[in-house]
Amino acid sequence: MKKQLLVGIVSIVGFISVAKAQTSSQNEEKINALIKKMIIEEKVRMIHANSSFTSAGVPRLGIPELVTSDGPHGVRLEHGRGWGELKDVNDSGTYLPVGVALASTWNPSLGFEFGKVLGSEAKYRGKNVILGPGINIMRSPLNGRNFEYQSEDPYLVSKMVVGYIKGVQSQGTSACVKHFMANNEEVDRGTVDVQMSERALREIYLPGFKAAVMEGDVNTIMGAYNKFRGQFCTHNEYLVNKIMKGEWGFKGVLMSDWGAVHNTMEALYNGTDLEMGSDIGTPRMSFPNFYLGDTVVALVKSGKMPESIVDEKVRRILRVMFKTEVFSKTSPGEYGSAAHIATAKKVAEESIVLLKNEAHILPLSLATTKSIAIIGANATRKNSMGGGSSQVKALYEITPLAGLKSIAKDIVFNYAEGYTIARNATPTTAMINDAVEAAKKSDVAIVVGGWAHGYNYAVWDDNAFDAEGVDKPDMKMPFGQDELIKAVVKANPNTIVVLIGGGPIDMTQWVGNTKGIIEAWYGGMEGGTALAEVIFGKINPSGKLPVTFPKVLEDVPAHKMGDFPGKNGVAVYREGIFVGYRYYDTYKVEPQFAFGHGLSYTDFAYKNLKVAKDAAGLVTATFTITNTGKVYGGEVTQLYVHKNKTAIARAEKELKGFQKVFLQPGETKTVTIQLRKDAFQYYDEDKNAWATEKGDYTIEVGGSSKSIVVSGGVSL
Ligand code: BGC
Repeated sequence: MKKQLLVGIVSIVGFISVAKAQTSSQNEEKINALIKKMIIEEKVRMIHANSSFTSAGVPRLGIPELVTSDGPHGVRLEHGRGWGELKDVNDSGTYLPVGVALASTWNPSLGFEFGKVLGSEAKYRGKNVILGPGINIMRSPLNGRNFEYQSEDPYLVSKMVVGYIKGVQSQGTSACVKHFMANNEEVDRGTVDVQMSERALREIYLPGFKAAVMEGDVNTIMGAYNKFRGQFCTHNEYLVNKIMKGEWGFKGVLMSDWGAVHNTMEALYNGTDLEMGSDIGTPRMSFPNFYLGDTVVALVKSGKMPESIVDEKVRRILRVMFKTEVFSKTSPGEYGSAAHIATAKKVAEESIVLLKNEAHILPLSLATTKSIAIIGANATRKNSMGGGSSQVKALYEITPLAGLKSIAKDIVFNYAEGYTIARNATPTTAMINDAVEAAKKSDVAIVVGGWAHGYNYAVWDDNAFDAEGVDKPDMKMPFGQDELIKAVVKANPNTIVVLIGGGPIDMTQWVGNTKGIIEAWYGGMEGGTALAEVIFGKINPSGKLPVTFPKVLEDVPAHKMGDFPGKNGVAVYREGIFVGYRYYDTYKVEPQFAFGHGLSYTDFAYKNLKVAKDAAGLVTATFTITNTGKVYGGEVTQLYVHKNKTAIARAEKELKGFQKVFLQPGETKTVTIQLRKDAFQYYDEDKNAWATEKGDYTIEVGGSSKSIVVSGGVSL
C-alpha cells in the first residue's frame, strides 16, 4: 500500500516536472517568435522604465506593460505613473508585519502565507511584480532598513525567503528579492564600495539570494545601489554574470534598484535586464535618456553592439511575463480581505518576542488587574506609512493602546505620552511627572517605546530612525526614553517595557531593573491586537530573535573591526564571517539577548538527542521536546553545528536547522532534522570551492544560540 502510494507520488511529481518543462519550452518558442517580430526600438523600450513603476510592452504584438510595486510588507499606495500620491483610489489594503517580524516567527509556512497575501493583493491592484522580499544581512543594528530585512543569519534568511517567494508566486505575481547585494548601510548606499572576503561573500551575504534562485525559483531580483569590489552591483560582472546567472543559472530578470544603473556598456554586458528609476537617480533622466534607452538603439543600429545582447534581456522579461499572470489572470486576487487580515494577525502573534519575564510579571491577569499606566508615544503611533518605499496605506491599524483597550474593557488605562518623537527631543519635566503620576496610581505600568519610522518619505524626515536613506546615529534609545523608563520603574516596580522597532536598541540603563520586556517590532495592522493578546496571555509568545541584541554598539563586530558606515567611499567588512552570534559566541562577548532567544509562558524539555550518519553521508538528528508547563505553546527548536578541532577560523557554532513545534501541556513530539553535506562546509578561498573539514563535529540543540540543552557528536 505504502509502496503504491510512493509510486503514485513519484509519478505525480514526475508528471508535474515534465509538464513544467514542456510549458517552459513551449514558452521559449513563443518568446523567440515574438522577439523575431520586434524592431529594435520596441525591444529597447522594454528594457527601461516608462513610468515610475512600469516598463513598456509592445501593444501591436499584444505584450502589455510590466507593472511593479513596492514593497516587502504590503502593496504600496498608488503613485500612478509619477511620484505623487493618487487621490480617490482604492489603495488601502492589508498591512503585514515587517520583514524582521516575519523572520522572528521562525515559521517558514507563515512566510508562504505572508507571500500569498502580497501576491494576491498585488494582482488585485494590477501589479505583476511585488518588490520584496528584502533580505540583506543585518550587519549593524544601525542600518535604517533593518526592519525590512530578516536576519543576521544566512540560514534563517534562506529558509524564510523561499516560503515568501513561493507564496507570492503561487498567486501569479512575481516576487523580486532585493537588494542584491551587500546593501547594508543607507547613508551612502548610492556610492559606497563594499569590500569583503570571498568567504564572507559566500558564507554570509549570498546564501539567501542563492536559496531565492535555486530553491524559491524567484522570477526577479533587484540589483542594489552600492558597489561591490569597485563595480556597481546592478552591473557587476562577477556577481551577476559569474555567480547569479552563471553558477546559479538564474533565468529571470535582474532589474536595477531605482536609479542604480550608472553605465550603459556595463549594464548591457554585465547582466542588467531592466533599468528602473533613473528618473529619480543622479543624474535625473527622462525615460528615453535612460542608460538602457535610445543610446542602445543607436549602438545596435551603428553595429557597435550585437542585437542579441538586447534580445537576451527581452527574452528574460517575456519569460517572467509568461511565468506571471501578465497576459491573463486566473482569478482577480483579493484585497484587504478577512483572510488576509487573519494572516497579518497570525504573523504578528508569532513574531512577538518575550525577552524578559522576571517573577512571571507576564501575562497580566484580566481578572485581577484593575489599572494600567500606558506610557510612551509609540503606544498610539501608527506606522504603516512610515519608513520609505515600503510604506502602505493600511485599511486600518490597531495601535498598542487600542489593542489593549479592546481586550481589557474593565481595566482603567492611565495614558501619558512620555516623550516626543522628534530628533534630539527629550521629555520635559512635565512629561516625566505625568508618566510617574500615571505609573504610581496604576497596578502595572507599560512603557511602549523604542524606535520610530519617519513619516515623510519625500523629505527624509529627520525623525526617521527606521527608514530608507538614513541610518541610526547610534544604538541609544532616542527621544530621552532612558530617563523616562528609569523614572517609571522607580515609581512602579511592576513595569513592562514594550519595544517597537526594526531591531536592537541599547537597554543597558534599565534592563536590570525592569521585570518584563517585549519586542513587538512593527507588527502590521493587527500588531496592537496581537501585542495585547500576548500581554494578557490569550496568546503564548513563540517568537525568537532573528538578530542578536548586543549590549552596546561598541560590541558590534561591524563597528569594532570593520567600517560602518564606509570611510571615504569604501566599507571594508573586516569582521569577515564573524557577523552576529558568530562573532559574539566565538569572541566571548556577552550579548544583551542572544540570537534565537525568546521566552514562553510555558516550559520545554529537550531530551533523547540521537545523531546518526547514513552511508551517503546524510546526518540525521532526532530529539524529543515536551511541554512541561501548564499552557499550550510553541517552541522554535534550534540546531547548531560546532567543529571540535579546526584548522581554520570558524564560528563557535552555526545554525543549520530549526523547527517550530506547538505542544499542549504534557505533550511530547519527536523532531527530526536532516543535515546535508553543506551543513558542515566552509568556503575554501584557496581552492575557490566549498570544502568539508574532516573530524569530529558537535550537534548542539536548544531554544536559543545561548541555551544549548542537548548535544551529540558526529565524525566526518
Ligand atoms: C528602494 C527599493 C524600492 C524602489 C522602488 C528604492 O529606492 O531601494 O527597495 O523597491 O526604490 O520604490
